[in-house]
Amino acid sequence: MRVLVIGNGGREHALAKALNDSPSTTDVYATRPNAGMMSCTKAIDVDPIDCPSVVESAQELNIDLVVVGPEAPLVAGLCDQLRAVGIPAFGPSQRAAALEGSKAFAKDVMAAAGVPTAAYGTFTTAEDACSFVDQHGKAMVVKADGLAAGKGVIVSESVSETHSAIHEILGGFVGDAGQQIVVEEKLVGPEISVIALVDGTTVRAFPSARDHKRVGDGDTGPNTGGMGAFSPIPHLGTEVEAQILESVLQPTVLELHSRGIPFSGFLYAGLMMTVDGPKVLEFNARMGDPECQALLMRFRGDLAQALYATATNRLDEVQLDFDPRPSVCLVLTSGGYPAQYTKGLPIYGVTKANESPGIFVYHAGTKYVDEQLVTSGGRVLGVTALGNDYEDAIHRAYRAADLIHFEGLQRRSDIAASALRGAQRG
Ligand code: AMP
Ligand code: GLY
Repeated sequence: MRVLVIGNGGREHALAKALNDSPSTTDVYATRPNAGMMSCTKAIDVDPIDCPSVVESAQELNIDLVVVGPEAPLVAGLCDQLRAVGIPAFGPSQRAAALEGSKAFAKDVMAAAGVPTAAYGTFTTAEDACSFVDQHGKAMVVKADGLAAGKGVIVSESVSETHSAIHEILGGFVGDAGQQIVVEEKLVGPEISVIALVDGTTVRAFPSARDHKRVGDGDTGPNTGGMGAFSPIPHLGTEVEAQILESVLQPTVLELHSRGIPFSGFLYAGLMMTVDGPKVLEFNARMGDPECQALLMRFRGDLAQALYATATNRLDEVQLDFDPRPSVCLVLTSGGYPAQYTKGLPIYGVTKANESPGIFVYHAGTKYVDEQLVTSGGRVLGVTALGNDYEDAIHRAYRAADLIHFEGLQRRSDIAASALRGAQRG
């Protein structure tokens, strides 16, 4: 198979490497690959959201499968355009990607399918939204309907703060994404991510994972794309895993299918483990980043075959297999991220770190300038370890990361610490 990977972050490096390692692939191409992807892909210089140019390149290169990593090209309808010319595409259609692109749509699907989630209302005026909050009488969570790069959710501590959040988002704080809002009940509990392959009807879940969204230790400071991840969640239990499959993933997939909007690709459920059981916080229509790095470190088998089977509606023939050992991904970022940061700084020690036992260093914002590896984004590298237990995996990841240097390097010191504290704790 000749495969084309769309995107060039840490998630796409993990996908590209696993696809290149798959016995069923001969060539793996990628759009504007980062420095790490250069060793497992051939570069094509096309903008991922320029759908017609991606389609044209895929045709010219005789691509058998296109794997779309990020949400933007999915929401732009890239998979629809590829399928329209007969190229198998791994990823949801534009309409199905609305599960991530519109929180109001996602809530409506969940309500219809009976999927456990926070009670909510959908609003376009502050007056209606505020009176909904007053009736509820407690602080609530305000979410912009559309894609807002992680800035569209405000969790408030009081009714008056919820009112301010409503005015902020409807007032244009995140642009057009906030023309409509979802106001929902505030849930409490540890968060987990469950990501599954879906081919319209069949669901095959990956093991559980947790990411660390806040920039600072102890979950402090602003939200980021993700400062680290680990898999699996300790002591989650097969019963809870089955519950998530049966009460969340399968009903959502069936509801979309019955609406004539079959979902194909990675379905990502962000869940909160409440005292009343798991409840959905959000859906994404793609793999998580950096969950992908932690999960694929544990993946065993031919990823290209699994994604091709998904893209061609034969997922029922696939059984997934994972290394039972836990994995930890520690993200190294540019200084100042997620606010302003400097690019183009030389990076040292990656080769040495990669030689450490049980380690793979996934690249994100990196490139070569005159054969020197330099930073080119906020999240720079994901040092990922497989260990005999969580303590071992954490130790390996940090020891390998200690070998890597660039000016301003930032990282959290408590990635996967909650795994050591044990049972599902946040
Ligand atoms: P989302 O993008 O919807 O996942 O929201 C981002 C973050 O906001 C989540 O990871 C949670 O930490 C928090 N959050 C979202 N919805 C709720 C909720 N209903 N109750 C409490 N926290 C929430
Ligand atoms: N790590 C969270 C996300 O990819 O949305």
